[in-house]
Amino acid sequence: MPEDFVVTPWEVVGEVDYDRLIEKFGTSRIDDALLERFRKLAGELHLMLRRRIFYSHRSLNWVLTEYERGNPFVLYTGRGPSGHTHLGHLMPWIFTRWLQEKFNAKLLFQLTDDEKFLFKPELTLEDTRRFAYENALDVIALGFDAKKTEIFLNTEYIKSQYRLALKVAKRTTFSTAKAVFGFKNETNIGLIFFTSMQSAPCFLESERQGKAVPVLIPCAIDQDPHFRITRDAAPHLGYPKPALIHCKFFPSLLGGGKMSASKPESTIYTTDSPSGARRKIMDAFTGGRETARLQRKLGGNPSVCSVYQYLYYIFEDEDEKIKQRHRACTGGELLCGECKQYLAEKVERFLIEHQKRREKARDVLEDYMVRD
Ligand code: TYM
Repeated sequence: MPEDFVVTPWEVVGEVDYDRLIEKFGTSRIDDALLERFRKLAGELHLMLRRRIFYSHRSLNWVLTEYERGNPFVLYTGRGPSGHTHLGHLMPWIFTRWLQEKFNAKLLFQLTDDEKFLFKPELTLEDTRRFAYENALDVIALGFDAKKTEIFLNTEYIKSQYRLALKVAKRTTFSTAKAVFGFKNETNIGLIFFTSMQSAPCFLESERQGKAVPVLIPCAIDQDPHFRITRDAAPHLGYPKPALIHCKFFPSLLGGGKMSASKPESTIYTTDSPSGARRKIMDAFTGGRETARLQRKLGGNPSVCSVYQYLYYIFEDEDEKIKQRHRACTGGELLCGECKQYLAEKVERFLIEHQKRREKARDVLEDYMVRD
């Protein structure tokens, strides 16, 4: 049977079936026992864990066991700077910030200006460098600890990574890369090599410390294919396999699929004006009926509603309130206009605060950046 959805690091098409994705990619579900372990160690559960938004993993039990044994993990995540940051990108970083705080962990943040230059025909190296620095402001604005965070652009931190990337490249055949990423003969050779650059930070801290340092990578599940290659190579290179914790996609405001940078109306950027973001929300796809009368009679459908999903994924952190909203919507007491207003206010407030912190981040940027 042909797949009705596709998820790769460069493409997400169709309605993603997250359960099937676990089988397809061969990852593990985060079960109740693992959640409980997390709760004990962190002291609480982030809403993205409680609501199963971070829902899948690789080797997470191992990373927690090492932590308990006094061998703490380093966090590693990143961004491909092809444009401004949208709320979807922010989601795994918000969670990563929480992990840094709860586990007192160091973070390596890779900005793949090389990848996006290679992938996007219209972007120059100057463009991707400029966006990398813009994206770094969003990372810093989330409140990462400057003493425990290193942000780097691949083109500016190549000396430290290149030897590690070469080791992965030597162990990865073209046929594996084709099978994992769907490369064609027309694919440029830079992209074929690139996956080894994304692997490099997984081994950086082990190399620096001269011992096996566990690494935990929080990301959306689209990035997993890169790390399948990393994990295959790791034992041959004498490094531990990196562990992963995967989230689902923050949805599109237009309904269905993940939000996409190629459709600006589907997406709220951190650089959008608060009033512009409000306008996008007022035009969003909801689970409402054709008329208010029908909605009162039959109730709405939160499971397809982007406004409800926005609240569920990020903006309503109180579990009781989100349950109540669900009940009121399906029971026909709550109409879409009201819900949109509620979300718009929350998003406006978030953007005003985030943008202030983003501007302040310009002054401290150099405390975070590393180059070689
Ligand atoms: P990029 O720039 O496509 O995405 C950055 C991060 O955001 C996640 N993401 C999403 N999460 C939730 N909802 C969405 N709609 C959504 N869209 C994207 C991605 O999974 C990613 O975690 N090659 C990478 C950059 C990178 C990286 C890494 C990412 C380098 N090293 C290590 C994760 C971990 C990229 O282009 O990400």
